Amino acid sequence: MTTASVPVLPVSYEDKVVLVTGASRGIGRVLAKGFAAAGARTLFVARRKAELEGLEKEIADAGHAGRAYVADLGEPAAVEAVLAAILKEHDGVDVLINNVGIAGPTAPIEDTPLDGWNETISVNLTSAFLAIRGLVPAMKQRGGGSIVNIGSVNGKAPFAQRSSYAATKMGLIGMSRTLALELGPSGIRVNCVLPANVAGERADEIFAAQAKARGVTLDEAKGQILAMSPLRTQVAPESILNVALFLASDYARHMTGQDVNVTAGMIMY
Ligand SMILES: NC(=O)c1ccc[n+]([C@@H]2O[C@H](COP(=O)([O-])OP(=O)(O)OC[C@H]3O[C@@H](n4cnc5c(N)ncnc54)[C@H](OP(=O)(O)O)[C@@H]3O)[C@@H](O)[C@H]2O)c1
Repeated sequence: MTTASVPVLPVSYEDKVVLVTGASRGIGRVLAKGFAAAGARTLFVARRKAELEGLEKEIADAGHAGRAYVADLGEPAAVEAVLAAILKEHDGVDVLINNVGIAGPTAPIEDTPLDGWNETISVNLTSAFLAIRGLVPAMKQRGGGSIVNIGSVNGKAPFAQRSSYAATKMGLIGMSRTLALELGPSGIRVNCVLPANVAGERADEIFAAQAKARGVTLDEAKGQILAMSPLRTQVAPESILNVALFLASDYARHMTGQDVNVTAGMIMY
């Protein structure tokens, strides 16, 4: 079983505005391209301008609509500024995908630095809180919307030495369930997608960090992590896209407060 050729769900997002955070590479980039290809006017945010401009061009060259915003989402003032620009230019969004996330420190708790902890909380959790808080009023005015928070397998099954990251990803699940209760009556659904071991640069970096933390070689660390999947595979980023396309659409109209594992079977609860 490999990550090759996962087909993409043929769901239409014509006339929808979709915002994806953390989109200059990895899963966010695939999400931005995928929602644009599905017909959405897709807005996306990250820090690296050149990568975002490249993505904007790729989307435009494919005949789709995309608009990049450059911001450090670990800075609350920058999040607020981007939201203000989006609300001015687009009158709100139909779908918000809080994808931005950093791995944070991989270290024993005694050696985990406060600035690493704080940065992880700001980027992974506070940015999602701020984006939701800022965009919900316009969603209510539009008569509803859908929020998809990209969590992690570590939001349910933690790895040793990743306390900051697990705290944010478990926090995202708690926030999503709370907001599903709170926003459901306004027609706003809130769900989480929990990926594991998605093929790409980030997974390669995590393999390296885990090898160091476990005191094993890179190949041994990869083998140990892949052995946790009954399918013995990494997950394709398109598999995350598919679940996000489904969850944010009317096909999932009666799903809210859910956390959907896309982990090649690494966890089953
Ligand atoms: N890959 C996996 O195996 C995996 C597994 C479980 C969960 N996840 C979750 O899935 C999400 C995406 O992961 P990924 O693997 O695609 O990560 P990635 O390849 O590291 O990409 C992260 C994206 O977020 C942006 N970003 C990081 N810090 C930012 C900041 N302060 N402000 C604005 N943008 C920022 C990065 O762009 P810039 O550097 O240009 O800002 C990049 O576009 C994350 O929430 C992650 O925790 C991933």
